[in-house]
Amino acid sequence: MVKIVVDADIKRGKINKNIYGNFAEHLGRCIYGGFWVGKDSEIPNVDGIRKDVIDALKEIKIPVLRWPGGCFADEYHWKDGIGPYETRPKMVNAHWGGTVENNHFGTHEFFRLCELLGTEPYICGNVGSGTVQEMRQWIEYMTFDGESPMANLRAENGRKEPWKLTYFGVGNENWGCGGNMRPEYYADLYRRYSSYVRNFSGNTVFKIACGPNSDDYNWTEVLMKQAGKFMDGLSLHYYTVPGENWNSKGSATEFTEKDWFITMKKTLRMDELLTRHSSIMDAYDPEKRVALIVDEWGTWFDVEPGTNPGFLYQQNTMRDALVAAVNFNIFHEHCDRVRMANIAQTINVLQAVILTEGSKLVLTPTYHVFNMYKVHQEAELLNLDIKSPEYKYEDESIPQVTATASVDSEGKMHISLCNLNPKVAAEVKCDIRGLKKTKVTGTVLASDKMNAHNTFEEKDNVTIKAFNGAAINDGVLTASLPPMSVVTLEII
Ligand code: AHR
Repeated sequence: MVKIVVDADIKRGKINKNIYGNFAEHLGRCIYGGFWVGKDSEIPNVDGIRKDVIDALKEIKIPVLRWPGGCFADEYHWKDGIGPYETRPKMVNAHWGGTVENNHFGTHEFFRLCELLGTEPYICGNVGSGTVQEMRQWIEYMTFDGESPMANLRAENGRKEPWKLTYFGVGNENWGCGGNMRPEYYADLYRRYSSYVRNFSGNTVFKIACGPNSDDYNWTEVLMKQAGKFMDGLSLHYYTVPGENWNSKGSATEFTEKDWFITMKKTLRMDELLTRHSSIMDAYDPEKRVALIVDEWGTWFDVEPGTNPGFLYQQNTMRDALVAAVNFNIFHEHCDRVRMANIAQTINVLQAVILTEGSKLVLTPTYHVFNMYKVHQEAELLNLDIKSPEYKYEDESIPQVTATASVDSEGKMHISLCNLNPKVAAEVKCDIRGLKKTKVTGTVLASDKMNAHNTFEEKDNVTIKAFNGAAINDGVLTASLPPMSVVTLEII
């Protein structure tokens, strides 16, 4: 029996909607073929952006979208992506498959996409191979309202009004693909570059420094010590990679229960990473002014057989759905410090929420988890205590069930539960204290196969269903969670 106590009158802070952010890079078929087909395409589009993608993403309310990379960001020169298409230079996307990038999707197209989605843009600038001047001019181009060389250039390209830009990253993975820097060196570069990321015309930029790679606690220590006061956010990248190493990450669809267990165990590690990075940040920033931004997370498997290894295209199964939900539960727990997270990546890359093939589109199990969890956006996190049986595999064990609870502005309570065990159902008894609740409804994502997934031919193998396995009696909620399931309950 899983025993849960929810204190409806103990609110632990707001769950920032930006925890449900996405990440879109010029990588494989994320931008080209994913978001962008061009205005002349036969695939229905709005100003070159796929209409089916817009509709699907609006449904899950993605609040913020990070672009243009990733490793691509530190090779990207923004001026190549403005002006008439015929004059935009082509470049080699050296990091991702050596493909030709025609720069048709640039600054204007990205802001149009965000406008169509009702999403905040989060742009990552180039520190690795770009100049301070180039970064400064990009900010001026996007946000300056008045007479200036960059504002005039923007107007010549058809946009008189500046855009609003809040989130700006000063480099990406500068410990790796973004320049292989030491933290001391990057901290100084961050101080220099970020000085010229100006607040023009009433636009205030939330500056995000490149943060650590998973458990590189020294990076966090050095950055906070040497540059903490100059930043608003510090990013963290952590991927769930079940395989032994980066050359053998494991298949997205052909896996055993052992692989399933390892994946869950590795994804649960996010909690430890957030706890330890946060405690380092607390030493320098006890008021928690600087946000921890998990701007790349998700599963990373071997690419689908027969696809370009540089395109990072992988299928998405029930296992990915559990990974997404478990991470959301963890992010909620850390909502005092974690105020944004961006899954990698939105379309056709890594733990995608959408897959496309020509004019076809399919929603992944991960998409459905975003849909089930959107009720938690901007809600107040409630105090929740859980005692779960263990899910044991060979000589290791992890909790069988993880959970989170919140109350929204209308007073509706939502509890989301993950059963990580692929074979055993979980009986839940939840004592809701501090508020009288009488009615429960719910949705569930479940399957009887660990590797169940949606294809272009069978789009609804894994899809949200109504959940009838919960009841409330005298303030006590009971629920029966199917094996390997994600459930969201609404309690009023
Ligand atoms: O998301 C794919 C890549 O992973 C990104 O480009 C990079 O930042 C990270 O290593």
